Amino acid sequence: MAVVVSSNGNAPAFEAKMTVYVFICVMIAAVGGLIFGYDIGISGGVTAMDDFLKEFFPAVWERKKHAHENNYCKYDNQFLQLFTSSLYLAALVASFAASATCSKLGRKPTMQLASIFFLIGVGLSAGAVNLVMLIIGRIFLGFGVGFGNQAVPLFLSEIAPAQLRGGLNIVFQLMVTIGILIANLVNYFTAEVHPNGWRIALGGAGVPAVILLFGSLLICETPTSLIERNKNEQGKEALRKIRGVEDINDEYESIVHACDIASQVKDPYRKLLKPASRPPFIIGMLLQLFQQFTGINAIMFYAPVLFQTVGFGTDAALLSAVVTGTINVLSTFVGIYLVDKTGRRFLLLQSSVHMLICQLIIGIILAKDLGTTGTLGKPQALVVVIFVCVYVMGFAWSWGPLGWLIPSETFPLETRSAGFAVAVSCNMFFTFVIAQAFLSMLCGMRSGIFFFFSAWIVVMGLFAMFFIPETKGVAIDDMRESVWKPHWFWKRYMLPEDDHHDVEKRSA
Ligand code: BGC
Repeated sequence: MAVVVSSNGNAPAFEAKMTVYVFICVMIAAVGGLIFGYDIGISGGVTAMDDFLKEFFPAVWERKKHAHENNYCKYDNQFLQLFTSSLYLAALVASFAASATCSKLGRKPTMQLASIFFLIGVGLSAGAVNLVMLIIGRIFLGFGVGFGNQAVPLFLSEIAPAQLRGGLNIVFQLMVTIGILIANLVNYFTAEVHPNGWRIALGGAGVPAVILLFGSLLICETPTSLIERNKNEQGKEALRKIRGVEDINDEYESIVHACDIASQVKDPYRKLLKPASRPPFIIGMLLQLFQQFTGINAIMFYAPVLFQTVGFGTDAALLSAVVTGTINVLSTFVGIYLVDKTGRRFLLLQSSVHMLICQLIIGIILAKDLGTTGTLGKPQALVVVIFVCVYVMGFAWSWGPLGWLIPSETFPLETRSAGFAVAVSCNMFFTFVIAQAFLSMLCGMRSGIFFFFSAWIVVMGLFAMFFIPETKGVAIDDMRESVWKPHWFWKRYMLPEDDHHDVEKRSA
């Protein structure tokens, strides 16, 4: 169970070039993030399409036609939400299986499995003739997401030269945002195609899935994964190939050493429950809860529905979703640029204040100006869209990428893959909760939903302030000494009897 994941760019600087081969590998693997993002973005548009609703959710369609009866509740339907959320439930279960295939078979076959699941899922959902086929299709897509999201970030971190790991880790999130944007564009154009626009939209995920399937034949397995499975010679060869230099001995030795230590831990999941694992474990899980309870996916999944709810027409609603998608992509670059300069804490704290203000303004406008059956006036609707965009900006450079980055850099090597699998599955669980509950919450709480998310943002801001230490610039295997031991709260879990192991590891 050995995985070398470093994201702070401060790991020992072994000799390495940024080779064309690594670049190609990164681009191909990151297509996994693109498919994840596409799936996130496509559901909202498809569930706003009349042809789709008529075919699978006639009751919702009827209600939508009489929308003036109740603005907030026209989309509230458990089955419609199941269409969106089933994917995340499947991904949650799959991430544990994926953690096992990652260790036993390798990262590359895990990515290949992901692309096969994706292709089956695309076929079933785009070709669906009834609700069952549609939902089973979503479940296969979910298996793909579970396998992809476990293997891709680990693959990226292992294949990258140490000094580029931080930036390359966020390439995953960047691809997620690009996937969401492409989905929004596809939604916008296919909404005009009757009656099969929704089939084209759902089928679109097949393109990146095919790229991932064939592309993954070109990429190599990571040296860590090969050495972890006792294929030391092949691991050495792979390392030489991806680093583009002859002298790879130091890095090779360090991977062998890390694998040795990790192999002594027979049950990494049990080790996760030990006091020494508590800080990264608790932070890793809570980060996922907080990331989702910013309310981001209420916007990402349901942006078109949300904008329609507050009074935009279908077309204008989809177009607004394209605008938020573009802002999401561009703001992620700000995160890539700042994360190793200002640090993680600054981004988390800044964005908490920033997102809180946006949510409050949106909530107040909706509470004041949008009656249950009324629509928003043009100026108010514009202000809502602007603040949704400003809100997305804050998320995109903070809780979005850091939700993936921090769990990948704070676990010690022996629990890194298991800890990361738990984080991925928690992410999927809370994404599922939001996807399943949001439309009902919107119906029940109305504009109050924005105050609900605001309250969570206050909680997460305070948590970040007191409990999330700065990890910028800290070597990945030095977290215990430099981060947890001096921390006012987490130091209580750093028991002296665990030191021996740690010293041994750091002297590598
Ligand atoms: C989150 C997704 C979210 C996306 C938005 C990701 O980090 O995990 O749930 O939809 O960011 O860009």
